[in-house]
Amino acid sequence: MTSTSRAETVLVTGATGFIGSHTWVDLLAAGHRVVGVDNFVNSSPRVLDRLRKVVDGDIDFVRLDVRDRAALGDVFRRWKIDSVIHFAALKAVGESVDIPLEYYDTNVNATLGLVRVMAEHGVRRLVFSSSCAIYGAADKVPIAEDTPARPTNPYARTKWMCEQILADLCARDPSWHVTSLRYFNPAGAHESGLLGEDPRGVPNNVMPYLAQVAVARRPELSIFGDDYPTPDGTGVRDYIHVVDLAEGHRLALDHLDDQAGHRVINLGTGAGTSVRELLAAFSAACARDLPSRVVARRPGDVAALVADAALARTALGWSARRDVADMCRDAWEFQRLNPGGYDDEEEPDELVGQP
Ligand SMILES: NC(=O)c1ccc[n+]([C@@H]2O[C@H](COP(=O)([O-])OP(=O)(O)OC[C@H]3O[C@@H](n4cnc5c(N)ncnc54)[C@H](O)[C@@H]3O)[C@@H](O)[C@H]2O)c1
Repeated sequence: MTSTSRAETVLVTGATGFIGSHTWVDLLAAGHRVVGVDNFVNSSPRVLDRLRKVVDGDIDFVRLDVRDRAALGDVFRRWKIDSVIHFAALKAVGESVDIPLEYYDTNVNATLGLVRVMAEHGVRRLVFSSSCAIYGAADKVPIAEDTPARPTNPYARTKWMCEQILADLCARDPSWHVTSLRYFNPAGAHESGLLGEDPRGVPNNVMPYLAQVAVARRPELSIFGDDYPTPDGTGVRDYIHVVDLAEGHRLALDHLDDQAGHRVINLGTGAGTSVRELLAAFSAACARDLPSRVVARRPGDVAALVADAALARTALGWSARRDVADMCRDAWEFQRLNPGGYDDEEEPDELVGQP
């Protein structure tokens, strides 16, 4: 494990999203320059003002759709980009079943376009957002990277296809350095309470759902099944603090040159938490017993998804430093300060009138 922590100019796609915004902060703190791009399809322009507050400075941002190769090309002409972290994607499993073509276009086509534009500009260093969703219902937990992929829905298939495209590209041209990070369940928020998870519509993930129950935007948490073969019968997941995840991206970037070609690394804590345990932890964080009700299992849900986190430790020197109590404390602080999410505020002046 060697590391090049030289300052780079990093293009971050999906930069105003949940994980992108936290990674942006981490990269700037480490001395990198960041050019962020996003089309706000699942994020708020108000994140830009929050970012300026957190980093106490100006930021470089371009509003664009990552499927627009010409617009991406302009970014590469305007800045001398050294590497790319590609977060931009659609990520709701249920929605991906309803509008699969939109998912293949945004997640797969955009990735194809991005690597083409990168190649045209001589940039061959990429960190790609993959997901533990590609493992499907793995036979063995904890799940190591060599577990065969068995994606069970269009969203997971888009991530698996992108990984395969990147692997094929790297096999043909070893001047590429690509790391696909398979994250488990990102949760939490920036400790300032200025940045956090603010999904549009009904949250798909349990943590933002709980946070909205805590501010009475939702009446109760639905627990999807309590008859799984887990200690308390509810689903077990490997929650990872978004700030730890952001650090993992920075370290993946620093270690891109360690190995030519494509490699795959899990980012998880290696520890599982059940829905009931998470409910108790969030109730403790907000000092109120949050209401819940057991309902039927959701199709496609699996009993347990927990990472084997060993490779991230040896390859990147990374391991999670924050636990579920920290995630609940920070997610609660963000929700408490922003009960209606980012959209409680007025539109920033610079974006009024933009397409
Ligand atoms: N949050 C999770 O549970 C999780 C788990 C595993 C993997 N991931 C992956 O991590 C990445 C980031 O996830 P997140 O949780 O921050 O999601 P997010 O929705 O908050 O962020 C994604 C960002 O990409 C932007 N985007 C989407 N389509 C775009 C397009 N065509 N052009 C420009 N911008 C576009 C959205 O506006 C959003 O700001 C995604 O690739 C996601 O699939 C997320």
